[in-house]
Amino acid sequence: MSFTGKVIAITGAASGIGLALTNHLASLGASLSLADISSTPLETLTTELRAAGTKVLSTTLDVSSSPAVDAWIASTTSHFGRLDGAANLAGIGMDFTAVADVTDELWERVLAVNLSGTMFCVRAQVRVMQKGASIVNAASMAGVRGRPGLGPYVCAKHGVVGLTRTVAREAGERGVRVNAVAP
Ligand SMILES: NC(=O)c1ccc[n+]([C@@H]2O[C@H](COP(=O)([O-])OP(=O)(O)OC[C@H]3O[C@@H](n4cnc5c(N)ncnc54)[C@H](O)[C@@H]3O)[C@@H](O)[C@H]2O)c1
Repeated sequence: MSFTGKVIAITGAASGIGLALTNHLASLGASLSLADISSTPLETLTTELRAAGTKVLSTTLDVSSSPAVDAWIASTTSHFGRLDGAANLAGIGMDFTAVADVTDELWERVLAVNLSGTMFCVRAQVRVMQKGASIVNAASMAGVRGRPGLGPYVCAKHGVVGLTRTVAREAGERGVRVNAVAP
């Protein structure tokens, strides 16, 4: 398999699944537009990838900001001229908290990053993608079943599943695939 000539956008690229995917796609020859809220590990990763010959555009952003996400995808297409794929992996967990004890602040932050952030990314990406492109979103087993103590996270990930199913049907009409993974 080769990704030479393909441009892939990844959120949450500085850690965990996003970092593993970034390194894997770099090894397959992809050009990468990486985004994360954590600037230092993102900069370190970018330096390493460029030294190894990978074409990288690196952007520090908070996916819960729709203007920041729109600007990131605009700069990606401006820089590389195309967008073939995207993996929306940025997300946050939460301490176990029964719904009865969930504060407004906890609810709003978990929904803002995990659901609104994913929606802002998918919306910006699907607008510029052509036939054959593909988007993968990070859902969770918490996106398909209830988990005591994780109410906001469960609601956000259920939302990611619903968003993915909906955009898959909308964009699938023109050959753009949209899927979610449930680690
Ligand atoms: N690892 C698992 O077992 C597991 C299980 C279920 C779901 N998931 C989901 O998979 C995705 C990746 O998980 P992971 O384990 O790699 O997590 P991780 O914490 O290792 O990485 C998440 C990355 O997202 C970034 N991030 C956090 N908030 C952000 C924001 N507002 N804007 C931009 N970037 C932000 C972090 O800086 C970090 O680099 C998440 O959406 C998570 O909910 C993971």
